[in-house]
Amino acid sequence: MMDNDVIVKTQDLVRSFEFGETEVFALNGVDFEVYRGEFACVLGPSGAGKTTLLNMIGGIDYPTKGRVIVDGETISDYNKDDLNDYRRDSVGWVFQFFNIVASLRAWENVGLALEFQGIKDKNEIKSRSYDILKKVGLEGKELRFPSQLSGGEQQRVAIARALVKKPKLIVADEPTGNLDFVTGQKIAELIRELNKEEGTTLIVVSHDISITQYADRVFHLRMGKIEKIENQISNSNYKKVRV
Ligand SMILES: Nc1ncnc2c1ncn2[C@@H]1O[C@H](COP(=O)(O)OP(=O)(O)OP(=O)(O)O)[C@@H](O)[C@H]1O
Ligand SMILES: [Mg+2]
Repeated sequence: MMDNDVIVKTQDLVRSFEFGETEVFALNGVDFEVYRGEFACVLGPSGAGKTTLLNMIGGIDYPTKGRVIVDGETISDYNKDDLNDYRRDSVGWVFQFFNIVASLRAWENVGLALEFQGIKDKNEIKSRSYDILKKVGLEGKELRFPSQLSGGEQQRVAIARALVKKPKLIVADEPTGNLDFVTGQKIAELIRELNKEEGTTLIVVSHDISITQYADRVFHLRMGKIEKIENQISNSNYKKVRV
């Protein structure tokens, strides 16, 4: 295997939390690799450590032990400022509860990601935001506020916001968890299409088995450990499939 095909790698990743006298292990030795352009799904029951794992990869938290390497850089060694820069510039986050700003219009929510990156040109921000909203199927709804959009549409805005900065990596924490089944399926399909079109590496964590049908590989996480990896070769959109 060529190492430069690996974009995300964790080595013996441990994250524990002090809880009075005891130590709770949210992650207990996770070795995990995601290939460039891959759609990886981490599936596991509540409490398995999914959000904890995503927080390490997405630049929100540090491991107690072990390393997180993204594109050859050991991000778990970064100081707080560098980790914040990494998260802002290289990672698109999508959350279960969308986390979009109620007082901003759809396009302004998307544009915020560009403003955070220091882009000042309003015309550029607006045109890039409109373009990406079109891509996620929200053409004509750019001026709406979140309260004027359905749950599925709000999640599309959140996905657009993650995509607009062309991140190396998109990480999604239960992106369909707060949607009805049909809307959730549509969002899962959209995520899949975008992954194919843009070639963006995608890591989705979920306890919802229906999203796994779109993934290249499914990692089963249980009690802080990867139990099993399933290769879904029929889905694979990247050429070198490994078993
Ligand atoms: N800040 C924290 N302090 C103490 N324990 C924590 C903390 N964050 C997570 N844990 C514990 O770590 C374990 C894993 O939590 P995590 O949130 O990663 O699970 P999850 O797989 O995302 O679950 P869910 O599907 O319910 O979102 C749980 O037992 C949880 O209680
Ligand atoms: Mg979680």
